[in-house]
Amino acid sequence: MKFELPRLPFEINALEPYISGKTLEYHHKKHYQVYVTNLNKLIKGTKFEDKDFETIIKVAEGPLFNNAALAWSHAFYFSALKPGNNNIIKGPFLDAVKGCFGSARFFKETFAKSTLALLGSGWVWLVLNSKGSMEIINENNAGNPLRRGLTPLLTCDMWEHAYYLDYQNRISDYVEAYWKLIDWELIEKRYNDAR
Ligand SMILES: [Fe+2]
Repeated sequence: MKFELPRLPFEINALEPYISGKTLEYHHKKHYQVYVTNLNKLIKGTKFEDKDFETIIKVAEGPLFNNAALAWSHAFYFSALKPGNNNIIKGPFLDAVKGCFGSARFFKETFAKSTLALLGSGWVWLVLNSKGSMEIINENNAGNPLRRGLTPLLTCDMWEHAYYLDYQNRISDYVEAYWKLIDWELIEKRYNDAR
């Protein structure tokens, strides 16, 4: 099997009380696993069999694109979550955020507004554009900024399976909780690596 489900970088209950172990149990072991399994089935016998995620996401269409993008985006989402609620934007990355958004507060507010503007399933992304500036964009369903030539730095999974067990229709509460869990040191590393 070419693509495998990565282990969570923390214990299943480690994000509580913000994201429950039950949500992670379903989200990681069931939903995410389905995309990986489907992707492995779909690439068999195609020109994508030996290609990496980035190539498949940029070029493939239909179910192959959907499952590759969803598998990649889930890895990207889970890897940037860090237990605890002391995760804050600081240092040089705080300066970069201020340069692009004015303030850390306005950055957070803009991100939160984007999550409410998304209709249906999708993802809110922090990306780096070709001018070296950060933007917040929404993508529906399996949509991925790699396809638009943008570099993803952070993503919030806005599919109901990511939050419904814990928050039902209280999307703002999910996003507020998610914000506490972001590993900003990793986001800063992604930002520095991309520039
Ligand atoms: Fe998800």
